[in-house]
Amino acid sequence: MSDQPRRPRKPAKPYRRPKKDPVRILAFEALRAVDERDAYANLVLPPLLRKAREGGDFDARDAALATELVYGTLRRQGTYDAVIAACVDRPLRDVDPPVLDVLGLGAHQLLGTRIPTHAAVSATVELARVVLGDGRAKFVNAVLRRIAQDDLDGWLERVAPPYDEDPEDHLAVVHSHPRWVVSALWDSLGGDRAGIEELLRADNERPEVTLVARPGRATTTELLDEEAAVPGRWSPHAVRLTEGGEPGAVPAVAEGRAGVQDEGSQLVALALADAPVEGRDRLWLDGCAGPGGKAALLGALAAERGAVLLASEKQPHRAGLVAKALAGNPGPYQVVAADGTRPAWRPGSFDRVLVDVPCTGLGALRRRPEARWRRRPEDLDGFAPLQRGLLRTALESVRVGGVVGYATCSPHLAETRAVVADLLKQFPAADLIDARPLLPGVPHLGEGPDVQLWPHLHGTDAMYLALIRRTG
Ligand SMILES: C[S@@+](CC[C@H](N)C(=O)[O-])C[C@H]1O[C@@H](n2cnc3c(N)ncnc32)[C@H](O)[C@@H]1O
Repeated sequence: MSDQPRRPRKPAKPYRRPKKDPVRILAFEALRAVDERDAYANLVLPPLLRKAREGGDFDARDAALATELVYGTLRRQGTYDAVIAACVDRPLRDVDPPVLDVLGLGAHQLLGTRIPTHAAVSATVELARVVLGDGRAKFVNAVLRRIAQDDLDGWLERVAPPYDEDPEDHLAVVHSHPRWVVSALWDSLGGDRAGIEELLRADNERPEVTLVARPGRATTTELLDEEAAVPGRWSPHAVRLTEGGEPGAVPAVAEGRAGVQDEGSQLVALALADAPVEGRDRLWLDGCAGPGGKAALLGALAAERGAVLLASEKQPHRAGLVAKALAGNPGPYQVVAADGTRPAWRPGSFDRVLVDVPCTGLGALRRRPEARWRRRPEDLDGFAPLQRGLLRTALESVRVGGVVGYATCSPHLAETRAVVADLLKQFPAADLIDARPLLPGVPHLGEGPDVQLWPHLHGTDAMYLALIRRTG
């Protein structure tokens, strides 16, 4: 036994209950739902925010911060994972997903917001104590302190491979996209480093809310009375709400006379409606109509011309949404739940046909922050036969001299030009027509005849449109 006098024991710190921060707890719950239930952040978040506001301990600023934390953490997940991986001593797949979510929230506050470092660390550690327990909160604390030692640029220099060694991997880490998505977007966009970087950066921005004044039912003048509303860039029916807000509170939107619709989608419907057809122009078909955004605009345009719209959608509940979007349409229309690859209508019935086919959605990454991580290259093989089947039926459904619009909200060449080229081979009596003049005033439309819109060039989703006239 030692004869040294015993050192008095340090008195144990009194236990302190963790502080409950409703904003961060809500953000964590939303991230867990996205991870565990494959939920969509844009669907999960609004009811959580509504409940919190009804509970009385949440104001508009809290809601804005919770939204920023969820969307920012999901969008920048690729970058933050690379940083977190450099700060933990085991592979990320061995870190429990709820712990990773808390670390992601912490990394976003430290590297992607102006929240001061000490506040970001202490608020995240308190969150960890509440949702993970004291033991794991210590781990979170240690990792966040390592992350806080550098800023985002410093971390990117350390964790992203040099551009010259591996351009796609470099861009994937720096701009937080999966490598295969960077590669696919670059293939479609073409050009040099500056262009693809602008596109990837635009994908990480929150898009403005854009409204459409459905012709004959609402006017842009009416919508421009809303706070911070400005005219659309390209569509004569568009109004942008530059400060976001709650579009559902706009009377014309609540009454269904206007809707929330990206300008890219408006341009697709307008170009199809304005494409020259020879002779009769009475029957229009939207073959993939759910949830009904383009159908509602087409229905209003058809009404102005005395034409009838048939809106067809395979999923019955989505057909219900189409019926809701079209309710009050000023002209005749019909909504059916039908498989567009086995049409119930006679071939050659329609003068104009739109098929806005199911796709990977790689053109709408700004809106769906989790989508880029959920999609896999194999998904393309899943969509390919359906996209071809729907375009084939559309070409069979249009009469000679009529026009088909093939649209996707993906710029992936396998979903755009490859599908159109395959069908034109099978269908020699059809020609691509130049879609560019049908988007008047819209710059950067390339060499045509099809058009590809881009978030960084047009401020729209990356919608693709090919217009095909049946010639025989
Ligand atoms: C990209 S969304 C269309 C969006 C719609 N045009 C709008 O603007 O609101 C594609 C739609 O096609 C539907 N769909 C999938 N397979 C189909 C099929 N075989 N026939 C008809 N519709 C189908 C999906 O349920 C989905 O609602």
